[in-house]
Amino acid sequence: MADKTILRSLAGEVLPTPPIWMMRQAGRYLPEYRATRAQAGDFLSLCYAPELAAEVTLQPIRRYGFDAAILFADILLVPQALGADLWFVTGEGPRLSTITSAADLNQLKPTADIHDTLNPVYETVSRLSKALPDETTLIGFAGAPWTVATYMIAGRGTPDQGPAHALMQNDVAVFDALMERLVDATAEYLIAQVKAGAEVLKIFDSWAGSLDDAAFEKYSRQPAEEIIRRVHKAVGKVPMICFPRGGSQAGYEAFAKTEGVSCLALGQDADVAWAARALQPHVCVQGNLDPGHMVTGGAALVQDVDDICAALSGGPHIFNLGHGITPDADPDHVHTMIDAVRRRPAAPLANAG
Ligand code: CP3
Repeated sequence: MADKTILRSLAGEVLPTPPIWMMRQAGRYLPEYRATRAQAGDFLSLCYAPELAAEVTLQPIRRYGFDAAILFADILLVPQALGADLWFVTGEGPRLSTITSAADLNQLKPTADIHDTLNPVYETVSRLSKALPDETTLIGFAGAPWTVATYMIAGRGTPDQGPAHALMQNDVAVFDALMERLVDATAEYLIAQVKAGAEVLKIFDSWAGSLDDAAFEKYSRQPAEEIIRRVHKAVGKVPMICFPRGGSQAGYEAFAKTEGVSCLALGQDADVAWAARALQPHVCVQGNLDPGHMVTGGAALVQDVDDICAALSGGPHIFNLGHGITPDADPDHVHTMIDAVRRRPAAPLANAG
């Protein structure tokens, strides 16, 4: 079998050089992405055009030789597949029809119907699983129920997820019912991605940081655990990366001990020395370079790469940014980052975990 370093790290192996990929590696900072997106017309049309979505997924693999490709899609396709209206306003971000009442919830489509909308995404996965180089791992993904719910409730991105917190306080029955719908749909969506050829799955809980400890447990960790349980029951033990971004150390530690979690992704604010101590004995750790370095480059970038790699070199590690690369990033700085990761001298005593 081809040597897939990402799968080895996810299985707990400590490699002399950590494998590397980058959140939003297919994106607007790349001229070839902008060209294909223009060909598709707009972002959502690109997500639903398997040939073009596969093409943009492959672009950063060709340019940089990353160890993993992440399916090109968006976390907001699931609400759309459940019947929410979704559109993107240039320069502002996503807009959705809102869900704030039992009546709104009743308007949503049955979970089984999501595939009618999402079939092109599975087609993209299946094309990629044939087109990728043997050593490149294909990562599928979905948004976590909490993060997706924050967009569905507010109808847009919000700085503090205020509308979702308000619904949780004021009408917990509706909030819980929406979360349950999202657990169902997300599990079904991820199972279909694995059937189409995804080798690893990542659950993005980008707004987990605004949940207090009790709410984090109930609305971030437990839904992830339930989704993983269903996925593993349906398609076997595919490796799972969880990204409860901004969660507390206690929250991350609880995730690390959760059945079926292979890897925790860190935001750039997380302390890597703590992660080495508290998380790596249980799981692989992914991260966590500040994406701002992809805009500014230079010696500070290389220094931070070295510090992160050194801190996490004693356990399983996948190198990544702490959040997605931004449109104003310089594609050359990505080369600098990759070179800095790969030129590191082999760690002494690299051993299988
Ligand atoms: O990482 C990848 O390359 C895979 C594809 C991917 C996209 N979005 C493509 C995208 C993934 C994994 C996502 C996840 C996603 N989408 C998240 C969670 C991760 C995170 O960043 O916190 C969230 C919250 C979304 C929702 C979303 N999609 C927003 C808020 C926006 C607008 C903000 C922006 O960057 O413009 C998007 C649009 C989006 N999703 C783009 C891309 C490449 C830019 C669209 C464009 O081409 O105009």
